[in-house]
Amino acid sequence: MAKILKDEAHTFNEYLLIPDYSGAEHIPNKVSLKTPLTKFKKGSKPRIQMNIPMVSAIMQSVSGDKLAVALAKEGGVTFIFGAQSIENEAKMVKNVKAQKAGFVISDSNLKETATLADVIALKQRTNHETIAITSDGTNHGKLLGLVTSKDYRPNRLPLTTKVKSFMTPLKNLVVARDGISLERANDIIWENKVNQLPILDKNGNLKYLVFRKDYDEHELYPNELLDEKKRYIVGAGINTRDYQERVPALVKAGVDVVCLDSSDGFTQWQADAIKWIKKHYPTLPVGAGNVVDGKGFRFLAKAGADFIKVGIGGGSICITRETKGIGRGQATAVIDVCTERDKYLKETGHYVPVCSDGGIVLDHHITLALAMGADFVMLGRYFARFDESPSNKVNINGTFYKEYWGEGSARARNWQRYDLGGDAKLKFEEGVDSYVPYAGCLSDNVRLTLEKVKSTMCNCGALSIKDLQKNATLTLASSTSIIEGGAHDVVLKDKVNVK
Ligand code: IMP
Repeated sequence: MAKILKDEAHTFNEYLLIPDYSGAEHIPNKVSLKTPLTKFKKGSKPRIQMNIPMVSAIMQSVSGDKLAVALAKEGGVTFIFGAQSIENEAKMVKNVKAQKAGFVISDSNLKETATLADVIALKQRTNHETIAITSDGTNHGKLLGLVTSKDYRPNRLPLTTKVKSFMTPLKNLVVARDGISLERANDIIWENKVNQLPILDKNGNLKYLVFRKDYDEHELYPNELLDEKKRYIVGAGINTRDYQERVPALVKAGVDVVCLDSSDGFTQWQADAIKWIKKHYPTLPVGAGNVVDGKGFRFLAKAGADFIKVGIGGGSICITRETKGIGRGQATAVIDVCTERDKYLKETGHYVPVCSDGGIVLDHHITLALAMGADFVMLGRYFARFDESPSNKVNINGTFYKEYWGEGSARARNWQRYDLGGDAKLKFEEGVDSYVPYAGCLSDNVRLTLEKVKSTMCNCGALSIKDLQKNATLTLASSTSIIEGGAHDVVLKDKVNVK
C-alpha cells in the first residue's frame, strides 16, 4: 500500500500572518526586498541578487524581451520562454542585453551618401529623431556625423540632397569614449547643452548614443537590475532535450542565468542537464524544478542546481492535478521544501534559494510565500495582464483582456516540457487557453503590489525578507474565518440598483 502523508496540503489562501510589534522604524520606505537568485556559500554573496522577489514565468504568453526589460527596470528577472526555436530565444536574450541602461545602440543609421529622401523614410520607419551617419551605414561603423531635425528643412531642400552636405559633421559634435559612466555622460550633455552624446570606441566606431531624455527616465528606476556592464540582467528557460545546443547559443547571446522548465523536476534528465551545464559553463547559474517536497529539493541541490522551483498543479492555467493526479497544495509544498533547504544549509554551508512557482492570486500571497521561506516567487497570470507581455490584447463586450495560455496547452505545444520521454508529440493537455483582465503597464502594478508586501512586512515587524522568514508567525484559517475576511453582512453598493 502507498505511503499516506498524515497532514493535509494547504494553499496560500488558507493562511494568515499574525502581526508582531512594529516600531517607529517599521515603515515601508525602510523595507529592503533584496533577495538571492542563486546559491551561495554561507558568509559569501550570491552571484545574482535581485532587488525585488519576483521573476516571470517561462511561458510564451508571458516572458518575451519587452517584459524582460520592463521587469529588470523594476529589479526582477524574466525567464524568456524556451518553447521556441533556439535561434529566436537567443535573439530575444540578445535584444535585452543590447540595451544598456541609458546607453542605446543606435537603430537609425545611414551612410553619408544617402539622401534627404532616405532620411525622411528612415525617420518615418523608426520614429526616431537622431540618425547616426557612419562609414558603412551600420550602428557600429565609424561615426562621421549626426542628422537631427535641426539639420534640414524638408520643404527647402531637394529630396536628392546628399546627407554629407547637411549633417552635423563629427568635428562639430560633442562625443565621449566608451567606458564613461552614465552620470558623467549626462554631465557632458548638460554642460554642452546637447540632446544626445555619441559614445565611440578608441577607433572612432560608434558604440552607443546617450540621450538627455533617457537619463531622466533612468532616474525613475532606482531598483533596476544590471550586470557589471550596466546591461539588464535576463534569464532564459531551457529543456532537458536540446540543452547541449540551446545553452551555448544563449550564453553567446549573453544570458545571465538559465532555468530548466518542467512540471516535474525530480528526474534523471534534470540532473544530467545540470551536470552537463556545470561542466561546460561552470559560471552559468542554472535553476531547476519543479519539486514539491524535501526529497525532490535535496536531489536537485545535490545535482548542483543554483535555485530550485517549487510547485506542481497550482498554476492558474494548470490542469496537471486534474489530468494526472499529481501535485501538492502550494503553501505546504513551499514550507516542506524550505525546511529541507534550511537543513541542507546547516549540513553543507550552501544556501540554495527557493522559488515559489504558480498559484499567486492575491498580492498578499507573495508575502505569505516569502514568510513560508521562499526567496522569490515566479508569476505567470500576474505578468500576462500587462502591456509588456507578448500576447494579444483583445476587447470582449467592451472590456479589455490579454490572452494567457499554459505551456502544456495544445496552443503552446510545448512537448519537451510535458512529454518527458517518448516522441515529440503532445498526447494530452496539462494547461488551458484563457483570457486575463488587461491591467496596464508593468511598472505601476509591480510598484503597487510591492507597496502592499512592504506594508504587511511592517505589520510583522520585518524590514527584510530574512527578518520576515525568521520572525513571522502564520496561522491556518478555518473556512469560516476566510469568509469573515471578506466584506460580509453588508450589501455592497455596486449590487444595489439605486434609482
Ligand atoms: P500562475 O502564476 O498561477 O499563472 O502560474 C504560472 C506557472 O504555471 C508557471 O510558472 C508554470 O510553472 C506553470 N505552468 C505553465 N503552463 C502550465 C501548463 O500548461 N500546465 C501546468 N502548469 C503550467
